[in-house]
Amino acid sequence: MAKTKSAFFCQNCGYETPKWLGKCPSCSEWNTFVEEIVEKTLPQIVAFSKNNDRIQKPKSLSDIEHKGQMRIPLKDKELSRVLGDGLVKASLILFGGEPGIGKSTLLLQLAVKEKNLKVLYVSGEESDQQIKMRAERIGIENEHCFILTETNLQNIFNQAEEIQPDLLIIDSIQTLYSNQIESAPGSISQVRECTSQLLRYAKQTEVPVFLIGHITKEGVLAGPKVLEHIVDVVIQFEGDRNHVYRLLRTIKNRFGSTNELGIYEMVGSGLREVLNPSEILITSSDDTLSGVAIASTMEGLRPMLIEIQALVSTAAYGTPQRSSTGFDNKRLNMLLAVLEKRCGFKLGTKDVFLNIAGGIKVDDPAIDLAVVAAVMSSNADLPVSKEICLAAEIGLSGELRPVSRLEQRINEAEKLGFKKMIISKFNKGIEKKNYKMEIITCGRIEEVIRTLFT
Ligand code: TYD
Ligand code: MG
Repeated sequence: MAKTKSAFFCQNCGYETPKWLGKCPSCSEWNTFVEEIVEKTLPQIVAFSKNNDRIQKPKSLSDIEHKGQMRIPLKDKELSRVLGDGLVKASLILFGGEPGIGKSTLLLQLAVKEKNLKVLYVSGEESDQQIKMRAERIGIENEHCFILTETNLQNIFNQAEEIQPDLLIIDSIQTLYSNQIESAPGSISQVRECTSQLLRYAKQTEVPVFLIGHITKEGVLAGPKVLEHIVDVVIQFEGDRNHVYRLLRTIKNRFGSTNELGIYEMVGSGLREVLNPSEILITSSDDTLSGVAIASTMEGLRPMLIEIQALVSTAAYGTPQRSSTGFDNKRLNMLLAVLEKRCGFKLGTKDVFLNIAGGIKVDDPAIDLAVVAAVMSSNADLPVSKEICLAAEIGLSGELRPVSRLEQRINEAEKLGFKKMIISKFNKGIEKKNYKMEIITCGRIEEVIRTLFT
C-alpha cells in the first residue's frame, strides 16, 4: 500500500512546506500555497538503456574520454547560435514564452527542417490535425518527423523507446503527467517530476530534449521558473504579440554564452530568420527627430537597447515641471542640476518631460548619458544620429563613469546594427578588443555634446 503524503507548494517559485503559509518565505508572495498530493511509491524505474543500474565510481578527470562531436549543427542559424553553435547531445532545453508568441511554430519548424534527424514531436495541446495544418502553413514535408499526441509521460517513454528519435520535443511540460505523482498536470510537483524524468532520459539516451513551457504574466501557472536549475539551457521567446518581430534569448546555458540574441519575423508561413538585424531599425525609424537618444542598458543579465525621449520647453507657469515615465524623477533632477551647474545650460526655467519608449521602467544608471543626450537634443532642437548609442553613468561633477558588462552591451548594439557607441574613458580593457563598431571614449559631458552635435 502506497504511503500518501501531501505538501504545500508555492505556485510562484515552487517553495515546498509541510504546512500552509500565508506568505512565501522564499519569494515573499502572498496566498500562493496550494496543497498537492505527492504519492511516495517506490520509484518505478523506466528502462532507457541497458546500463541503467550501473554503479558510478569516481574517475580521474584525465581518464574520462571525450566522445568527440557532441554538437548537432542546425539548419536554423538563429537558434543554432543562441544555443552556442549547435545543439548539444543529451541536453535538456527549456523553451519559455507567453502563450501565442510562436513557441510551437518555431519547434515544429525545427522538426520539419532537420531532414537528417528523426524527430519525435509530442503535443499535449493540439490534435494531430491541428499540427498538420500548421506544418502545411510552414510548407515543408518531412517523413522523419513523427507526431504523438499524448500527455502521459510513461507512454511517451514507451513510444520513444520504439521510435528511437534523434531529437525529442515536448509541447508543453505543463500538460504532462507522471503516474508516480497524484497531483494534476501543470502543478508544481508534476512539472518538477516530469522534468527530472525527462532529464534522466536525455542523459541516458543522449537524445536532446526540448521542453516548451508557458509563462503567464501573473505567474499563476506552475511556472517554468521552478525548472531553471534542473535543465541545461533556458531560452526565452519574447516580443509583443501584435508586433511581427520575436527575440530569442538565452537565460542560462551550460554549453555556451548567454549573450546571444536570435531575431525572427512572424510571417504567413511561419517564422523567418532575421539575419541582418539592422533591417528592423531601418523599418521602424522614419525621420531623425530631436529629443531622442538610444541607451544600451542591462535588464538583469540581458542587454537591451532602449529609446529615450525628452521634451524641453519654456515653462508656462512659475515653477517648471519635471516629469518622467519609466525613469526616477529624482535622478532626472540631479542630471538637470549637473547640466546647469557643470556645463552651464540654463534649464532652470524650462519644463522637462522624459519618457522611456515602450512603457518599460529602467533603473540601470548606464542610461544617464542617453537621458542627458536626449534632453540636450530637445533643448537645442538638434537630432542625435540614429547610428549612435550611449552607455555611461554620470557623476555629480559631470564626469562619465564606467558601466558594468560593457562587452555584452557592445555586442548587443553591434547585433542591432549601431555604428558608434559613446562610453566613459574610464571603462578599462576595451581598447584591446577589435569591434566592428566605432567606440568613442569621453571623460566629461561637454566632450559628448561636442561629439554629438558638431
Ligand atoms: P504558436 O506557435 O501557436 O504559439 P505558442 O505555441 O507560443 O502558444 O503561434 C501562434 C501564433 O502564430 C498565432 O497567433 C498565429 C501565428 N502564426 C503566423 O502568423 N504564421 C504562421 O505561419 C503560423 C504557423 C502561426
Ligand atoms: Mg503552442
